[in-house]
Amino acid sequence: MAEFSLPKNSKIKKGTHFPLSEKADDVSTFKVYRWSPDDDENPRTDTYEVNLDDCGPMVLDALIKIKDEVDSTLTFRRSCREGICGSCAMNINGTNTLACTTSIKEVKGQEVSVYPLPHMEVVKDLVPDLSHFYAQYASIKPWLQTDSVPLPDKERLQSIEDREKLDGLYECILCACCTTSCPSYWWNGDRYLGPAVLLQSYRWLADSRDEHTGERLNDLEDPFKLYRCHTIMNCTSTCPKGLNPGKAIGEIKKMIAERHAL
Ligand code: SF4
Ligand code: SF4
Ligand code: FES
Repeated sequence: MAEFSLPKNSKIKKGTHFPLSEKADDVSTFKVYRWSPDDDENPRTDTYEVNLDDCGPMVLDALIKIKDEVDSTLTFRRSCREGICGSCAMNINGTNTLACTTSIKEVKGQEVSVYPLPHMEVVKDLVPDLSHFYAQYASIKPWLQTDSVPLPDKERLQSIEDREKLDGLYECILCACCTTSCPSYWWNGDRYLGPAVLLQSYRWLADSRDEHTGERLNDLEDPFKLYRCHTIMNCTSTCPKGLNPGKAIGEIKKMIAERHAL
């Protein structure tokens, strides 16, 4: 029988417990993944007690409070704190989501576990390395491509119906929650583009103003880039913006099939 062992230094150890210094009625405990490239230590989970009567309502508020008041070395990304920038994507109680739109009360009643997005290299603590993800995004040329010359002083217009075809696509904030929840991406992320980048691809394929549809499809028609999607639909269940990357991938496959049928 094959034997598997975890790579050296990958075992997560129990870290430090930071109890509340004062008595409080409404307390939540946050178990947070910690790892630093600056020492040779294994990852650990530190436990922080937070007084919810003195904290904002969201998981991101608790992390900011911990960083401000307990441990300034805790590292995570955030910017807009309203579900627009995608920076604070992390795994909270087993679900990839945005810390700034996840209410502590929603996940309360148990310990709140906070880990980085799964199956990505970690830069530090809750910060995943998204370099490959962004390179894959750049590879699909996420901008309007045209050959025709527009009339001077005229915008490229769309009908109301054509504009509506972009609904459910343009709202994607590239948080990577879907991509890092996709088993196919876990195993083939080096070549499979994953749900976020494929949804973004479809956003340009569906745009009536774009004139490079054929080239975009040629580029996607690849056993790995597109066809590693096996319609498991984790992506759609986890998207914190309520989008449906699984459906967008299906639309791309349909466009390619229709092209072959011509
Ligand atoms: S589709 Fe949803 S989960 Fe995926 S990157 Fe876009 S916003 Fe995030
Ligand atoms: S539907 Fe496709 S992209 Fe979405 S989780 Fe499943 S395999 Fe991944
Ligand atoms: S901080 Fe911008 S999406 Fe959470």
